[in-house]
Amino acid sequence: MIVFGASSASLLVSLFVLSRLGLLERIVISIITARNPSTDTSRLITGQTLPIPKLLVGDMIGVQRVFNLTIQHGTMEYVSGQQTPTSGYNGPILGPTLVMNKGDDVVINVTNDLGEPTTTHWHGLHLPAVMDGGPHQRIEDGQTWRANFTILNEAATYWYHPHLEGKTAEHVYSGLAGLFIVRDEATDKLDIPRRYGIDDIPLIIQDKFFNDDGSFNYPGTSTGVKGDIILVNGAITPVLEAPAQIVRFRLLAGSNARIFNFGFSDDRQFYQIGTDGGLLEAPVPLTRLLLSTGERAEILVDFSADESQEVRLVSYSSERKNIDAFWAKDKMDISTFDVLTVKVIAATQNAVTRLPESLVTIARLDESQVDMARSFKLQMVSFRINGQSMDMNRIDETIKLNDTEIWEITNQSEMAHPFHIHDIQFLILTRNGSRPAENERGWKDVVLVKPQETVRLIAQFSDFADPNTPFMYHCHILEHEDGGMMGQFVVV
Ligand code: C2O
Ligand code: CU
Ligand code: CU
Repeated sequence: MIVFGASSASLLVSLFVLSRLGLLERIVISIITARNPSTDTSRLITGQTLPIPKLLVGDMIGVQRVFNLTIQHGTMEYVSGQQTPTSGYNGPILGPTLVMNKGDDVVINVTNDLGEPTTTHWHGLHLPAVMDGGPHQRIEDGQTWRANFTILNEAATYWYHPHLEGKTAEHVYSGLAGLFIVRDEATDKLDIPRRYGIDDIPLIIQDKFFNDDGSFNYPGTSTGVKGDIILVNGAITPVLEAPAQIVRFRLLAGSNARIFNFGFSDDRQFYQIGTDGGLLEAPVPLTRLLLSTGERAEILVDFSADESQEVRLVSYSSERKNIDAFWAKDKMDISTFDVLTVKVIAATQNAVTRLPESLVTIARLDESQVDMARSFKLQMVSFRINGQSMDMNRIDETIKLNDTEIWEITNQSEMAHPFHIHDIQFLILTRNGSRPAENERGWKDVVLVKPQETVRLIAQFSDFADPNTPFMYHCHILEHEDGGMMGQFVVV
């Protein structure tokens, strides 16, 4: 692609000028949003029972909780009688859910049987940079990488996925991703659902294009691949039998590029209780929940009056068509589409029947105690941040250990970008000068920054210093990240 691969300085300058006007992007958008729709969708197998990723608690070896993951190829049957080549951790697609307690000394042995190098990144976890699994922790084919760290994070839902320089999008699209559930004593005392697969349901929501033979079609579109078939936990628009009581869903927007605007088909209210890196202070009532790539949300939904009824989790994407200039180009984004059908069955014993009034206390960082402020400008042309495209040999920011910083992220492009920072969890201070919505007032590691918007974040960079190994910050639209919208920081 000439436009995005341009390296000549004068071309870049003129592209930059054009892009400030928004013209270039509009032109480029219309050229490259030509999609490869899934061909014969009538043959795809839909409506299967929602698969629940296997729960792994690890083996206690001495004081360590040890997990083993193998990155491997597999096949799935998405068109009857056809084998779809896929990849997964310990299975054909996605990976097991790893459960651990705050304070655990965890070992994860990751064996790469993919036939090519990759990495595995622990998204959202606060750990030493050498254990982060980013682009610098390459796992060569046939090798095992041993990650060892202590769980310092709050109880929440995190995830893992490949992060090889330039290859993240392709590897994730092929099926590589899985969840972590961190538990802690404080939240274990709360009266909220926690029976995995019964009233505590993980939902990894993704999208793909399919070829006629059932194989995944990865067009590699540089603006971001948004497929036209929705998969939840690796199955196409599946069905969940949920008990007639309060049910907790842990949602991961795990697409390469698609942003979801979740809600229920009957417009019912639900309650967000958790963000990327912890629980909220109290449940926040919602009817819509915007979730961009990499973000997680925990919600409670009350099905107690719905026995033997059906309700669908959908994405009311068309309601958000003003998000960016790209939205109108995608046929899913201008519609409302199904994600999951919930069939409500009889309640279980010991059902949670009441909504908790409060959840946790968030130790908010003090804005008057800030050591440093930085600004980051997101630019679409050549996928840059502050004018620079990712270079693994360049450190962009150096941060002092234990400093509290404000990061001001400004989106200078015509497309919304989910901005993600490794190592830390942050709090959103303002969006264009205003306080964020109630459901964004918890710990986060991804924030969607809309065109021309400025988001201010606060975070503390504690515990782990390493002048030799950087952490990443980047757009979590995986094609943008691979295209260069990523930078590196060290904590010293
Ligand atoms: Cu979810 Cu740098 O990654
Ligand atoms: Cu990450
Ligand atoms: Cu982006």
